[in-house]
Amino acid sequence: MAEPAVRDEKDRVRVFDTTLRDGEQSPGISLNKQEKLEIAHQLARLGVDIIEAGFPIASPGDFEAVQAIAREVHGPVICGLARANAQDIDAAWNAVKDSEQPRIHTFISTSDIHIKYQLESTREDVKGQARASVAHAKQYCDDVEFSPMDATRSELEFTAEVLQIALDEGATTINVPDTVGYSMPDEYAAMWEELYRLVPDLHEVVTSVHCHDDLGLAVANSFAGIRAGCRQVECAINGIGERAGNASLEEIVMLLRTREQAHGLWTGVETTEIARTSRLVSRLTGYQVQPNKAIVGRNAFAHESGIHQDGVLKERTTYEIMDATTIGLEANSLVLGKHSGRHALRKALEELGFKVEGAALNDAFKRFKELADKKKKVTALDLEAIVSDQMRETPAAFVLESFDVEASSTRSPLATARVRLPGGEISEGSFTGDGPIDAFFSALNAAVGYEARLKEYHVSAVTGGRDALGEVTVLIEYHGKTISGSGVSTDILEASGRAYLRALTNAIEESPVAEAEHHLEEAVHTPAP
Ligand code: KIV
Ligand code: ZN
Repeated sequence: MAEPAVRDEKDRVRVFDTTLRDGEQSPGISLNKQEKLEIAHQLARLGVDIIEAGFPIASPGDFEAVQAIAREVHGPVICGLARANAQDIDAAWNAVKDSEQPRIHTFISTSDIHIKYQLESTREDVKGQARASVAHAKQYCDDVEFSPMDATRSELEFTAEVLQIALDEGATTINVPDTVGYSMPDEYAAMWEELYRLVPDLHEVVTSVHCHDDLGLAVANSFAGIRAGCRQVECAINGIGERAGNASLEEIVMLLRTREQAHGLWTGVETTEIARTSRLVSRLTGYQVQPNKAIVGRNAFAHESGIHQDGVLKERTTYEIMDATTIGLEANSLVLGKHSGRHALRKALEELGFKVEGAALNDAFKRFKELADKKKKVTALDLEAIVSDQMRETPAAFVLESFDVEASSTRSPLATARVRLPGGEISEGSFTGDGPIDAFFSALNAAVGYEARLKEYHVSAVTGGRDALGEVTVLIEYHGKTISGSGVSTDILEASGRAYLRALTNAIEESPVAEAEHHLEEAVHTPAP
């Protein structure tokens, strides 16, 4: 569908991406600073208007990641989340203040069920906290967003009162969330119409939708809110988020784009970056995209039945309402081979949006050559996979040096693994197991000296063909927390080892118990002065 020549600014819907905040709250997702930065850079390339980069008070790691994004990612507004208290708001401000366009997002629940059981407070108190928090945020930052949490289960008149308070204190965006995914599209739209009537000042600010998918209605509810006048949509790549997730960014954006002639609404998203962003988020979070997921599922543009195939071959639009190239599928014909040099690789990476220089380029070139030796044609998908895999190697990580796995149908498997520890020393572990992967992961536990348990193991191919790169994602449990990791290689065992060590690195970085164990070890091994 051709885009209209002239678009009205009042019909532009701002895209507020919360993949790194609400999305990162999903069980098992735990991104480190580098991974969050990589996603944030890609979100900027995608052209989202606002990146909610995290919840800075939650942990020092969260704070540092939001701060790094604020400093290094240009284009979008960078937003930090804060509960309605001064300490949270101070942390959020300190994390985002170096951004060219900082925003503080503060929230408090307005439903009686939350006020009574969770906050153990009163409506009067909620009003006071809303007033104080927006006023406090406003001292730092012009751009302040306020959300009444669990609004769709709140008494509307009370929510309206709280919103008026937030507006009086200078909130510039009002977001009314369907926190538990309870609303229905007509109900959510009617709620907005009533709020506009009760709080006419809402017409002077940006109003925003934030819908969860517990009943599978997140996108439908978000769309209903936009139709009712809201001009910001909060959403996440691949629809990740608390419980059933948030409205999926790719779905709401493509709905606005594909049916623009019917509703007249539009976004500034560069839709050709959608497929790539989805792959990156899936790879780094370990959350696989279901095959039939709208827009980004691998079957979203596949035609199985003979009648459909016949139709599409004659005329694509017989069974396709979107062109796959508009979301960045099938667009990249870039191919390198084993004779391609460093210059060609750098150019190809630049085309893909990676700026890789110096030592990082040398490492990328080494991995590219290894791959090109095994695989005739190295495609854009391969390069994207190996470079984003390599970008995750940090000095603080456990690195797989080498391994030996013996498997047979007549004896128990035996694995030996050598791992480079963050301090640079090499540690070796050997173990048997129920199967080769079990033995390998136990050997890795032995080498690094931490005991984690494998919960899930997935393997997929980056491209088609027997020589394809394999991508492994693992979910491990460590001290009650579930953490994911992924790795890429032409050798599935190597990809598995990389994935497992990444998950272990993340688990240990996150775990106070691991820290304590580590200090205890040091104390035991360090002689008293
Ligand atoms: O779902 C929700 O209510 C939230 C708020 C913090 C906006 O995520
Ligand atoms: Zn939410």
